[in-house]
Amino acid sequence: MKKLLVTGSSGLIGSEIVERYCKSGWDVYGIDNNMRADFFGPNGDTRWNQKRLEQIHKNFSHFEVDIRNREKVLETLREIKPDAIVHTAAQPSHDLAASRPFDDFDTNANGTLNLLEATRRHCPEATFVHLSTNKVYGDAPNKLNLIEKETRWDYGDEEYYDGIKESFTIDQSKHSLFGASKVAADIMVQEYGRYFNIPTCCLRGGCLTGPNHSGVELHGFLSYLIKCNLEGRKYTVFGYKGKQVRDNIHSYDVVSFIERFIEKPRIAEVYNIGGGRDNSISILEAFQLIQDISGKDMIYDYSDKNREGDHICYISDLSKMKAHYPDWSITKDLKTTFQEIYESWLARTKVS
Ligand SMILES: NC(=O)c1ccc[n+]([C@@H]2O[C@H](COP(=O)([O-])OP(=O)(O)OC[C@H]3O[C@@H](n4cnc5c(N)ncnc54)[C@H](O)[C@@H]3O)[C@@H](O)[C@H]2O)c1
Repeated sequence: MKKLLVTGSSGLIGSEIVERYCKSGWDVYGIDNNMRADFFGPNGDTRWNQKRLEQIHKNFSHFEVDIRNREKVLETLREIKPDAIVHTAAQPSHDLAASRPFDDFDTNANGTLNLLEATRRHCPEATFVHLSTNKVYGDAPNKLNLIEKETRWDYGDEEYYDGIKESFTIDQSKHSLFGASKVAADIMVQEYGRYFNIPTCCLRGGCLTGPNHSGVELHGFLSYLIKCNLEGRKYTVFGYKGKQVRDNIHSYDVVSFIERFIEKPRIAEVYNIGGGRDNSISILEAFQLIQDISGKDMIYDYSDKNREGDHICYISDLSKMKAHYPDWSITKDLKTTFQEIYESWLARTKVS
């Protein structure tokens, strides 16, 4: 039986991977210590998701491991010797990192190094997929020629119509401490690929979303926005007139790409992964879409101050992914994704 190790297995992307590979008959091992609850408080708790997975899938085993614990990570990989590793565990918030720089760097940069070195020592043939972020580009995308439209910002130059490519600079811009710790991890993942010939890839995510996100104000924008609408809670828009654009990809489509990569791995690849132009939306447009679905008005206020280093308009160019894996494409449009997140919050609210 093939073995998959997933870090951050109770989180949004991790849990979706666990489900898919359990259904495909792999033995799946998850590493998660519910650090999301430590980072974001009770609303970020992911234990419910861990328990859900343990109940449904007999071929899933949970390991209560902190990826910052080097010895434990080495021991776990020596024991399991997986055929593939999907590394999603992270301190994922751009904004939170400034108040917890050691936890952020220790988790994102050192935790990734611990996993890479454990892979090299104990299972160097394994494919290593790392969830990176578009924040590795810092705020450099804000320096592009941008035009203001009625409900959104957009790229002014034709060459950026399809979005940002992997060749975009990651240097000399403001990243946030989170973006910087993820750059360190991203470069290390590439280096373990090129230097040691390990099949690695970095997926530089735009907004990854889906029904299993424990969205909070500081991370998981769409999930949190929809929760606010459902609960009639006030949502704060930070700057850019609410016209800032994010491209959103459902975790289902993220996992479908990861499957393709694990089937036919390459060495030291980097891909921008997001919803692309078709699944891009501004905050103002997102308010309208959720109002259409729920029938409830969005309650919000506006703060003039944008988040430090926040993107004004970010769209991932998906052409490299599609060129390398032509049978992959986005299958969930924005409306479907909104609907699924909305229904998931409804169900969770009823249970609790
Ligand atoms: N969700 C997004 O919009 C988005 C966008 C770009 C990149 N990413 C990246 O994708 C990855 C997954 O994101 P997500 O949204 O699924 O995050 P998530 O917070 O839902 O899941 C991450 C999981 O990792 C666990 N974790 C955190 N620190 C840990 C540690 N030290 N040891 C063990 N487990 C730990 C958390 O408890 C959580 O369950 C992250 O690397 C994130 O930076 C996410």
